Amino acid sequence: MENIIPHEFHISKTERNKQNGHTSFVVWFTGLSGSGKSTIANQVEHELYEQGIKTFSLDGDNIRKGLNNNLGFTAEDRQENLRRIAEVAKLFVESGAVVIASFISPLKKDRELIKEIIGEEDFIEVFVNTSLEECERRDVKGLYKKARAGEIKNFTGIDAPYENPENPDLEIKTESENLEEAIKRIVLHLQDKLKIS
Ligand code: PPS
Repeated sequence: MENIIPHEFHISKTERNKQNGHTSFVVWFTGLSGSGKSTIANQVEHELYEQGIKTFSLDGDNIRKGLNNNLGFTAEDRQENLRRIAEVAKLFVESGAVVIASFISPLKKDRELIKEIIGEEDFIEVFVNTSLEECERRDVKGLYKKARAGEIKNFTGIDAPYENPENPDLEIKTESENLEEAIKRIVLHLQDKLKIS
């Protein structure tokens, strides 16, 4: 951007990582509403916290009610929602935290943009794969019912698309996998990545 010259900070991510004793990166959970993203993300964060890892969670509750409270669910608004979240996640990575992000992030092109902003080396994609039928059967928040009744427009899976990730780093099939095992699998996957080389 013209006339914007970034300042070089003395304390970089590398120094912060050394001080913390672990690396920092983003674990990004994507999946339909009600797929179990937040539940899994919360438990993964808890496990990491217990290991003394500096973590921070970003999800709809702390973002859509605050920073992004001017955005809705059109394709344009979702893209802007996710772009801002990716920028925030990147700042937290710079601060030395392992960021646990859970957002539907329904489109491939938006997930590509997120990866580009954060940087491929700092981005781990976890696909929480729960079928629409199962999410709708659970309907924890009653939103699918409202969407079917036409009371919510652009609802993911009903009248707005969700594109399955083709090559996620991890995939959790909540209908066939034990939740505890899935969480262990994710945490195990992160162990190598947490090591400072
Ligand atoms: S996105 O697509 O990544 O920008 O969405 P996200 O920021 O993750 O917000 C999803 C939560 O918003 C609620 N909600 C909706 N979801 C999908 N479509 C529509 N139209 C919609 N309206 C409200 C819903 O509770 C989502 O929460 P989760 O935790 O995913 O169920």
